[in-house]
Amino acid sequence: MAKKKLRVGLIGYGFMGRTHANAYKSVGNFFESGHEPELTAVCARDGTRAKAFAEQWGVKSVETDWRKIVARDDIDLIDIASPNDTHEEIAIAAANAGKMVACEKPLGRNAAESRAMVAAVEKAGVANMVWYNYRRVPAVTLAKQLIDEGRLGRIFHYRAKFLQDWTIASDLPQGGEGLWRLDKQVAGSGVTGDLLAHCIDTAMWLNGAIDSVSGMTETFIKERVHNVKGGVQKVTIDDASAFLARFANGSLATFEATRYARGHKALYTLEINGEHASIFWDLHDLHRLEFFDHKDEGRTRGWRSVHITDGDHPYMDRWWVPGLQIGYEHTFIHQVADFLKGLDEGKPAAPTFRDALATDLVTDAVLKSAETGRWERVA
Ligand SMILES: NC(=O)c1ccc[n+]([C@@H]2O[C@H](COP(=O)([O-])OP(=O)(O)OC[C@H]3O[C@@H](n4cnc5c(N)ncnc54)[C@H](O)[C@@H]3O)[C@@H](O)[C@H]2O)c1
Repeated sequence: MAKKKLRVGLIGYGFMGRTHANAYKSVGNFFESGHEPELTAVCARDGTRAKAFAEQWGVKSVETDWRKIVARDDIDLIDIASPNDTHEEIAIAAANAGKMVACEKPLGRNAAESRAMVAAVEKAGVANMVWYNYRRVPAVTLAKQLIDEGRLGRIFHYRAKFLQDWTIASDLPQGGEGLWRLDKQVAGSGVTGDLLAHCIDTAMWLNGAIDSVSGMTETFIKERVHNVKGGVQKVTIDDASAFLARFANGSLATFEATRYARGHKALYTLEINGEHASIFWDLHDLHRLEFFDHKDEGRTRGWRSVHITDGDHPYMDRWWVPGLQIGYEHTFIHQVADFLKGLDEGKPAAPTFRDALATDLVTDAVLKSAETGRWERVA
């Protein structure tokens, strides 16, 4: 049967533009679907660089104004892989034009923006998805299966951290290409929206809603040269952010993210302790799930390190042979595969815009708590 084309208009050719383009190009080689993505257009403000990207990745056309891509009638899906300050306007325009929308995380710079985006896609009735790709690491998906099967029993603790070290130098400027994450106007917040958002999305997927939080943030370097505004400007993002949380299911949690953990580049770890079993996962070793099951026979009971490469592990029957692992880029391929499956079946693919709004409500509460010094309920 002829496949239905899914004509993608990709906005942004940076880090995420590349992971998404790779996913659209690869997915059909490994996953079956009635839909076939086509890289129809890429948009970025620098036409020469966008053209070079299009040539490298086989994208059919180039635009330098996202409004033109949104207006084109040969595009089905607008995929937003540009900085956070562009998400709301592009997503709402795309939904109003009747396009499906995929958006990078965080959905908005704050929950108010995300709410408007949810309203737009739901009013238009268009398929939508947010790229919280860590859900699609096979080991993390397996953790979800084990929790849903009740293998951990009642959950007591959730512990997550996401550590980096790339902004420690005090002479690093803020703003502009490659450094927009240090500019609050563009990013919305610092590590809270950038790194903790990932931890929160995974946490709520695995362990349910978060009720209340108590947060603290710090900006270690108070002033930096601003690449766009010029001169030395106050830094207004959070360099580090940590919070305590209570989940609706009664479990307690700690979350931490920073760009000041010397030696760590992208150390995302999570640990869950339940009455029967515990789980630990580490992005630097993403194909392993550490599992402790108290029901094991006592003399040999201990933490096992499960190599997630077998055909009965999530997604792995589509890849190589048992023992051979996959990596980071595959999480994006899995996300596209799940989106296409959703289109085949007429069902939304999680996380939807509404799911991602839930994360922004938590990050808003964390930032508010850091300001008030009090526990805050998640709206
Ligand atoms: N899912 C993840 O793990 C993950 C990882 C990194 C980044 N992100 C998110 O992806 C988004 C992009 O981040 P990145 O690291 O790829 O950034 P990047 O700086 O590498 O690339 C941004 C791209 O957006 C383009 N751009 C900027 N403003 C634009 C505009 N007005 N119109 C069209 N194009 C524009 C730039 O030219 C560039 O191509 C952000 O929202 C970020 O939070 C998600």
